Amino acid sequence: MAVPENIRKRLEERTELGLLRSLSPPKKGWVDFCSNDYLGIAKNHFSGNQLLGSGGSRLLTGNYSKIEELEENASSFFGAPSLYFNSGYQANIGLLQAVGQRGDLYLFDEFSHASIRDGLQLSRAQSLKFKHNDLQHLAQLLKGKSGYNNIYVVTESIFSMHGDGPDLPALLDLCETHHAFLILDEAHSVGITGAQGRGISFAYKEHPSLFARIFPLGKAFGVQGAFISGSDLLKDYLINFARSFIYTTAPSPVIAEAVANSIDRVFEADKARDNLKLNLAYWHGEGNNREANSLSAIQFVPCPRIKHDGIKKALEEAQIQVFPIRYPTVPEQMEGFRVIIHSYNTKSEIDSLKKILQAHAQ
Ligand SMILES: Cc1ncc(COP(=O)(O)O)c(C=O)c1O
Repeated sequence: MAVPENIRKRLEERTELGLLRSLSPPKKGWVDFCSNDYLGIAKNHFSGNQLLGSGGSRLLTGNYSKIEELEENASSFFGAPSLYFNSGYQANIGLLQAVGQRGDLYLFDEFSHASIRDGLQLSRAQSLKFKHNDLQHLAQLLKGKSGYNNIYVVTESIFSMHGDGPDLPALLDLCETHHAFLILDEAHSVGITGAQGRGISFAYKEHPSLFARIFPLGKAFGVQGAFISGSDLLKDYLINFARSFIYTTAPSPVIAEAVANSIDRVFEADKARDNLKLNLAYWHGEGNNREANSLSAIQFVPCPRIKHDGIKKALEEAQIQVFPIRYPTVPEQMEGFRVIIHSYNTKSEIDSLKKILQAHAQ
């Protein structure tokens, strides 16, 4: 996996100055004049042997053995060195703020998640949007953009509003042709796509242009936090330069255990992934035994705002929870209902929802 030269250089400079940060091994049994656990509450046992809190940032007292084991486990699951962040939001702002330097350029999909946009704002690099999933437009921009130190392309594997995504192999090839580095947020594909839920990009993890993958855990993993996976260099770089990693309390060991548990469950969830595919096929009206074409659990039903109230009323009567997506979250002409199909929805639930949408949305 490629890493831009300036990332290596900034780490070397820190090392030469004796300022390199690294996670120190947990110190069991040492006298504590260091943690922020002023009243000793973090040291309480939550259940069994589990401590309640981490007591500090990862770079101080918050680097306990379970969080290190969790990252090792995640690294082997995703096939690349991985670092845990407290949320997907923190992962994106930390990564984008830290990586893009003056003289670099971010090219990002116009529909990118707020956490990506906020991260771009925090960085010193310039940023420019390309049309949604439009690789031709991206190619045009890449062709016209020489003179930058590094170009990063930032996008999502499946977009949270409409459930669509870019052609990943073509996108990677385009990045390679133009010596650009790809940053891919897999919030809505990790857990449900790739071998045992490792995400769409798992099959391309050795591609020289795939620089960083973000795996938020609040969706299919059913927990919270996010891993950023890439290379040892990227991991060291984030530990040194990602402010949302450095200046925050490490997750509670209770969360670390829940995340470890969820990785095991996602690994074993082939049956649930199959059910999800069957439900998607049913939603698309393709019969019970055919797999849906779409890998996305997010199914968008376009519908003008004027019809939203009628649909909301019918959904309320049927006690079905679906939310409309409106401006300014999406452009006005793209408003509608965002349906999330789950592995556990029944066919009759899907029928009821379809009936309401079909009756009102036309
Ligand atoms: C694409 C994408 N990235 C990041 C996030 C943020 O993740 P988290 O909820 O863990 O902060 C979301 C959440 O909706 C998302 O859709």
